[in-house]
Amino acid sequence: MTQTVTVLGIESSCDDTAAAVVRGVPGQMEILSSVVFGQTALHADFGGVVPEIAARAHAERLDVSVAGALEEAGLALSEMDAIAATCGPGLIGGVVAGVMTAKGLSAATGKPLYGINHLAGHALTPRLSDGIPFPYLMLLVSGGHCQFLVAHGPDKFTRLGGTIDDAPGEAFDKVARLIGLGQPGGPAIEAAAQDGDATRFAFPRPLANKPGCDLSFSGLKTAVLRARDDIVAEKAGLTQTDQADLAASFQAAVTDSLAGKARRALDLYLDLSPQTRTFCVAGGVAANMTIRAALETVCKDVGVSFNAPPLALCTDNAAMIAAAGIEQMPLRAPDGMGLSARPRMPLDTTSASMLGSGKKGAKA
Ligand code: KG4
Ligand code: ZN
Repeated sequence: MTQTVTVLGIESSCDDTAAAVVRGVPGQMEILSSVVFGQTALHADFGGVVPEIAARAHAERLDVSVAGALEEAGLALSEMDAIAATCGPGLIGGVVAGVMTAKGLSAATGKPLYGINHLAGHALTPRLSDGIPFPYLMLLVSGGHCQFLVAHGPDKFTRLGGTIDDAPGEAFDKVARLIGLGQPGGPAIEAAAQDGDATRFAFPRPLANKPGCDLSFSGLKTAVLRARDDIVAEKAGLTQTDQADLAASFQAAVTDSLAGKARRALDLYLDLSPQTRTFCVAGGVAANMTIRAALETVCKDVGVSFNAPPLALCTDNAAMIAAAGIEQMPLRAPDGMGLSARPRMPLDTTSASMLGSGKKGAKA
């Protein structure tokens, strides 16, 4: 029987500095503490995450985060069985800061150190939140990533498809900027879309007729730009109704694209004849109720259960990194002091790398 372990997790790959303590065995874990310091305010004036500012903020807050997580858990560092830290992919300055912090703690205490792929953290979250058994289908949909993965085991993932250019969250953020809504764009567009007419603009559903489950969002963004420019040329500005209709029509296009490709990904997944049939989503865009509802409908149609972890576990956090450590510890030796930080780190090394997937955002 696998032994219960207590693991300190560290996450610093984008603009959240996080530490957490998780205890348990693979598939059955409890979050004892989870501390997240967001950096949104630090980057607000720049319209995006500035890597240098992010790296400095991580370096300043990592020790406070770790101390906070241990205090909240009521445990000492000496009571940890291991330390797990994100070692990629991400903004390299932040990843280095987290890895160096973890190495320092490991060297000082002799505790084993495990490097964790940030995407594995997201992809294994349904195990932490709900103990979902393998294999399950996962749609990771965030500000920096969009991929359909089959999770076969804690360190075995097959990517079925994903975006060939922008991530959906990135598209939500850019489109919000284009039509004069605030940041982050996802919640702003979702709110504006509530009063909008989703049929006013016939925006494209890129790659809809292409087989497989790859997605594309950059053409959609350009289509919104053109529609906006046409309105501005005609009336010298956007009314609230125009904003709402643009938001609703854009959201409908993203929803249709994700739902259509989810159906294809489900077919591929079900071809594997899994014992349990579960489709999980994670990432900030999974917070969108219209998208969630559409994915749920697809799952109902094909008789697969739908799982969405609580939002705090969908967005970046260190509990998922500690949990991935607990999942992977029985399978491999610690990385130790040889661990290096990597800006790129595909989850499925057997599939061909995707064209521009995630190239702009280190956010995953
Ligand atoms: O997972 P996340 O917090 O950060 C990473 O990308 O790792 O995702 C943030 C992204 C942002 O692009 C944000 O606009 C989008 O998720 N987002 C949403 C919603 N809430 C957040 N997109 C659509 N609808 C939402 N309600
Ligand atoms: Zn992430």
